[in-house]
Amino acid sequence: MGCAISSLGTKAEFGERSAEEEEDAAAVYPREDQIQMIKDSWKVIRDDIAKVGIIMFVRLFETHPECKDVFFLFRDVEDLERLRSSRELRAHGLRVMSFIEKSVARLDQQDRLEALAVELGKGHYHYNAPPNTSETTYVGAEFVCAVQPILKERWTSELEEAWKTLFQYVTGLMRRGYQEECCRQRHLALSPKNRPEKRNTAL
Ligand code: HEM
Repeated sequence: MGCAISSLGTKAEFGERSAEEEEDAAAVYPREDQIQMIKDSWKVIRDDIAKVGIIMFVRLFETHPECKDVFFLFRDVEDLERLRSSRELRAHGLRVMSFIEKSVARLDQQDRLEALAVELGKGHYHYNAPPNTSETTYVGAEFVCAVQPILKERWTSELEEAWKTLFQYVTGLMRRGYQEECCRQRHLALSPKNRPEKRNTAL
C-alpha cells in the first residue's frame, strides 16, 4: 500500500479510487443481529484469549511466512513450534486480543470503534506494517479458524459471516488511519522548517 499523497496527481485528481479503496468504501457495519452474535461468542472466546492469540499467529506465520518478516521479534525464528511457548508471541497475541475485546465493547458506539481502528492503523505506519487487504484478510481468517474449536457446536456459518464483517470493517478503517499517518508524515517532511537550510554559496 502506498501513500495516498503520492497519487495526488493521478488517481485522486481524477476522482478515481483504487480497487482496495473501493472495497473499503463498500465495507459494511455489522447488523444488529450480527452484533449480538459477536458479543455472545466473545463471552466464550475471552476465556481462552492467550491460546487464541498464539494459535492465530503461529498459523498466520506458517501459511503466510511473508507476514512473519514484518515482525522484528519473530522474523529470524525458523522453528515455528518454538513460537508456541514464546513469551513475546503470547504478549503480542494478547495485545491483538485486547484490541478485539475493545472493538466488541464498542460495537454499540460506531464512532468510538472507528476512532480506535483508525488509531491502530496509524500505529501500523510506525511499525512499518501496512495493513494491506490480503494480509489483514489472512489475520481475520486465522482468527476465525482459531476460535472455531473453542466455540464447538456454537459455531455457525452466520457467526463466521458476522466476525468476517467486523474484521473487514475494522481493517478498512486501519487502512484509512495508515494512509492519514503516511500523508501527515510526508507533509511534516516537506514542511519548510524540516528542509535542510540553504547555504549562501555567494559568500
Ligand atoms: C486484523 C488486522 C490486525 C489487527 C487487529 C492488528 C492489531 C495489532 C495490535 C493491537 C498491535 C499492538 C499495538 C499496540 O500495542 O500499540 C499490533 C502491532 C503490530 N502489528 Fe498488527 N494487526 C493487524 C494486522 C497486521 C498485519 C497484517 C501485520 C503485518 C503483516 C501486522 C504487523 C504488526 C506489527 C509489526 C506490530 C508491532 C509489533 C511489535 O510490538 O513489535 N499487523 N497489531
